[in-house]
Amino acid sequence: MPAAASTATTGGAAHGDAARGEQIWSRCQACHALQYDRTGPRHCGLFGRKAGSVPGFDYSPAMKRSGIVWNAATLDRFIADPLGTVPGTTMGYAGVADPQERTDLIAFLREAKCDKGAGSGR
Ligand code: HEC
Repeated sequence: MPAAASTATTGGAAHGDAARGEQIWSRCQACHALQYDRTGPRHCGLFGRKAGSVPGFDYSPAMKRSGIVWNAATLDRFIADPLGTVPGTTMGYAGVADPQERTDLIAFLREAKCDKGAGSGR
């Protein structure tokens, strides 16, 4: 994984390294999968999705009422401090404190589309 090549194309904090993000995402896999719901809702298709809107997933009222639309900025805030961002969320996870790790994680999540990758390891 040539780190120099990937940072050259990212241009700072707005973009991360999706490959590193995938490693960080393994922490989320305790509760989340990309293509199907587990303890937490599926993560594919997160970008542009309204919080609490995966059909059939049993969200907390707090998440459904949050009015959040997931994008790089809202994800960054939520992943940094889930309970502080959406008080009452049932996502029992302390968050990812490191900003670079969050940026990489978000780069990975941005690519996680529901219509691809079912068998490709993503
Ligand atoms: C201990 C289990 C657990 C872990 C670990 C966890 N989550 Fe969650 N996550 C949940 C649950 C449960 C919900 C639903 C929360 C609610 O309804 O309030 C959720 C909801 C979410 C949502 C909102 C999705 C939507 O459809 O609105 C995002 C985004 C999210 N999690 C991201 C992450 C990320 C990124 C990680 C890893 C850094 C992570 N979660 C780790 C359990 C977890």
